[in-house]
Amino acid sequence: MPDRLSSPYDLLLCRPGAEPEFLEECDTLHGLRGRTAGPGMIMLPPGKLPAASLIFERQRMPGARLLTLPEGANIPPAAAEALWSSWTAEPMPWGMHLIAAEEESGGLSRRLQGVAREFIRHGEALVPGLRKWERKPEKLLRDAKGMILQLLLCREGLWVSAAPAAALTAPVPGGRFRMKMDPEAPSRSYLKMEEALVRLGIEPAEDERVIDLGAAPGGWTYAFAKRGCFVTAVDNGPLKLSTAAVRRVEHLHRDGLTFKVPHHLPPVDWLVGDMLIPPGKAFGVLKYWVGGRHCRRLILNIKLPQEQPLPALLPILEWIRSRGAFEVRQLYHDRREVTVYGSLTL
Ligand SMILES: C[S@@+](CC[C@H](N)C(=O)[O-])C[C@H]1O[C@@H](n2cnc3c(N)ncnc32)[C@H](O)[C@@H]1O
Repeated sequence: MPDRLSSPYDLLLCRPGAEPEFLEECDTLHGLRGRTAGPGMIMLPPGKLPAASLIFERQRMPGARLLTLPEGANIPPAAAEALWSSWTAEPMPWGMHLIAAEEESGGLSRRLQGVAREFIRHGEALVPGLRKWERKPEKLLRDAKGMILQLLLCREGLWVSAAPAAALTAPVPGGRFRMKMDPEAPSRSYLKMEEALVRLGIEPAEDERVIDLGAAPGGWTYAFAKRGCFVTAVDNGPLKLSTAAVRRVEHLHRDGLTFKVPHHLPPVDWLVGDMLIPPGKAFGVLKYWVGGRHCRRLILNIKLPQEQPLPALLPILEWIRSRGAFEVRQLYHDRREVTVYGSLTL
């Protein structure tokens, strides 16, 4: 093995700071022992990951190898050759995702562009016709075809993974679903809802009925009202909505934990909830709305406790597994929280 090149690992990306609960998830739920590789990165023995994405996983880089690369150093030809040698002899479409480990660090992002160019130059010398097969990664990921080359630059060096598009868990670099803020949205929580809708893959339709528990100041309510839905916003706090959005919103100053619907009414189209409550209480909300089949779709945010977040989630995971097409994920826009989203089969 050339100097400065690690053996392969499955490198998994998560929210920086969520590494302990992510490692615990891998160990407790999948029997996989890993360790932290840096902020927002954990490394696991290769080839053992379940196909479905994990709760705290933003993206995976299967078979990734770390090339130690001090600032200003070039990629050693022997290392480049070793990395490109895993590239298939058969020509096939490929695309590239570039990831700077620390998003806020402009320095790392700039350096990454140069390192990526250098890495590709080596590839062109080693793999004839390489550029001819380059495609937009979005298309390859949409069609689950070809290979995705992921280059992640961190302080220690460059992680390189080449894996089939179908093996990745998110269609965006680093699993960073960066949503665009709407200047009329009353809170940044709006971004969480936009991301949850993208991940769910369902666009709310005009005139659908929505109940939003813990709605104030109104980011989630706004996301539905701007699409022409009718929203019942439940919260004792004030909403800060524009006049246009407010026309489609009924504000109830009530407790979202005890808010119920009459049994004879058909299920509401959407139940969404973002209350600042412990996971046990959120579980009660889930049981009422999903167990009682009072909604067709649900997006529920669960705040994680400081201590032992995974044990707090386990009963919810266990219960939701048999209830239809539901996912539990830490969204890119989530903080110390995870989101349950999905549809009921009615
Ligand atoms: C994180 S904020 C919600 C932000 C909102 N999703 C948005 O997009 O603007 C949490 C809200 O939950 C509300 N809340 C907490 N406990 C509640 C309860 N039992 N019933 C109703 N609302 C509650 C709080 O008043 C607060 O406004």
